[in-house]
Amino acid sequence: MGLIVKLALISDVHANLEALEATLADIARRSPDRIVCLGDIVGYNTNPAECIALLRQVDCLCIAGNHDRAVCGEITTETFSDVAARAVAWTRRRLGADAIDFLRGLPLKANIEDKVLAVHGALHPESGCETVRLDSDDRRLLSFEALVAHPSGARICAFGHTHRHGVYELRGGRARLRPEDEVVLDDAAYYLVNPGTVGEPRTRDWRATYMMLDTARRIVTVRYVTYDAAVPFAKTRKAGLAPAFSYLPVPVRDALKRGLRAVGLYEPVKRLTR
Ligand SMILES: [Fe+2]
Repeated sequence: MGLIVKLALISDVHANLEALEATLADIARRSPDRIVCLGDIVGYNTNPAECIALLRQVDCLCIAGNHDRAVCGEITTETFSDVAARAVAWTRRRLGADAIDFLRGLPLKANIEDKVLAVHGALHPESGCETVRLDSDDRRLLSFEALVAHPSGARICAFGHTHRHGVYELRGGRARLRPEDEVVLDDAAYYLVNPGTVGEPRTRDWRATYMMLDTARRIVTVRYVTYDAAVPFAKTRKAGLAPAFSYLPVPVRDALKRGLRAVGLYEPVKRLTR
């Protein structure tokens, strides 16, 4: 048996220090052999240097996310949203050379003892894997095919990037979502597992999520962590990094955006409210 049995999988921290501290405290109580961060340490929120330092302090195995790569100039922000691109530029101005070098040195993929492959976006593309989003059955199937064909023999690939947690199982040629928060892994199946996001939720549930993966007991568990999301939120607003109308509940914000777009006023109002 290898040295790494219990893994804590985290992803998409996005410079949210309060969420990361709360998540690491919860992880510490479960004594993993290794913490793995599946990319996007930085972006959107205001504590990139602190989050990088904290992850280095706990000897986290970090994968490069698209935001990490953009901040250190390895990819452009052409395909990023306004808010994301603004945060990349803001972050770049605030990180020292050591932190930028750290981000530049992150691998796109990692093989953890031939048991788990770790990526940010997807396993299958030869290049640009950090930008591919596994948010459809078709794309997940391509990564499943890459996992089955992988010379390591690993049956689990951990990914992030979508900010939505999920355990996807390929068994007997059919893929399906396993919706439970605790999944016993089948030896004959392959898995794509996504721990969700620590610091940048895309739903109304602001809790950080991560996963504990026990490769010996073959169990993966989704963990939810509560923290005071108002603190990082206030900091992003103060720094001018929050999206327009971010103080409104998501359904109200979306309805308002649709209405303003319909009458051609979205961009001017957004500039005024930034
Ligand atoms: Fe992300």
